[in-house]
Amino acid sequence: MSAHAEELVRVDGLVKTFAVRNAWGRKTGTVQAVDGIDLTIRRGETLALVGESGSGKSTLGRCILQMEEPTAGTVTYDGVDLTALPRAERAAHHRSMQVIFQDPFSSLNPHRTALQNVLEPLLVLAPGDDVRERAVAALAAVGIEGDAVHRRPRAFSGGQRQRIVIARAIAVRPGFVVCDEPLSALDMSIQAQVTDLLLQLQRDLDLTYLFITHDLSVVREIATRTAVMNRGRIVELGPTAEVFASPQHAYTRHLLDAALTADPVRARARLERISARPDPVGLEPEGSALVEVSPGHLVLR
Ligand SMILES: Nc1ncnc2c1ncn2[C@@H]1O[C@H](COP(=O)(O)OP(=O)(O)O)[C@@H](O)[C@H]1O
Ligand SMILES: [Mg+2]
Repeated sequence: MSAHAEELVRVDGLVKTFAVRNAWGRKTGTVQAVDGIDLTIRRGETLALVGESGSGKSTLGRCILQMEEPTAGTVTYDGVDLTALPRAERAAHHRSMQVIFQDPFSSLNPHRTALQNVLEPLLVLAPGDDVRERAVAALAAVGIEGDAVHRRPRAFSGGQRQRIVIARAIAVRPGFVVCDEPLSALDMSIQAQVTDLLLQLQRDLDLTYLFITHDLSVVREIATRTAVMNRGRIVELGPTAEVFASPQHAYTRHLLDAALTADPVRARARLERISARPDPVGLEPEGSALVEVSPGHLVLR
């Protein structure tokens, strides 16, 4: 198999700049949310994207999904440059790329039943005589069955609501799913169940995941490779076990250090202390680039 057949998503030179405005709407500056990223996501893998809040993870995910127009650079999906396609043709790819957000409450329509919520995107993206059966099957695959499919979101627990969101994403049979902090709003005990569900669906449906999180413990369990992001750049990328066992970039070590404090209250205090430092890691040197330090393990230098 060629390298190209192996890669499902390819990002080249991606930049996303936002205008910063004051309370009166006047532009006072810009923020470089994504600052020149090259990345490939391989078919069938889970690539974890980790980094502190504000590092640009969601923006990168949204640019890949075409929910955000990149300022520069290209996004290729299954060999097709999405950024070069006319808007109308891009829509055909919306089915292949789905997203699961952190907050199941705001992602579901509260006035519609679980079944109606799953039917909605199916009717738009993959219509057919059997949409209802497909919606019911997707809900069954996440454990929502029988009369429960006719309940509205508020009748479900947080974990069940996230299951409905997952059913809606998989119902259209995507190839690629961006999971953006999908567990962060859930209780610890529920997190493990939803993680297992995501892994099982990946096997059953041949899914490729970009898994965005600031929780490193889950990354170890599920990610094939891990990319570490700081200030809009990827500072380290490699096989998950290797990045955790032998972190090469100061920022990766700083993240792992904060996460290693087992007590969550102390970990938070420690992270806040580190974040409060004016510049915990320092700016990347001018002209820095990802350098391969061992096979498949890249570090920004
Ligand atoms: N729509 C937007 N308008 C202006 N600034 C934004 C917008 N979205 C994100 N940003 C800024 O871009 C940076 C990266 O944000 P984000 O991608 O959400 O980071 P993360 O997901 O890692 O927390 C932050 O400084 C954030 O404030
Ligand atoms: Mg985010």
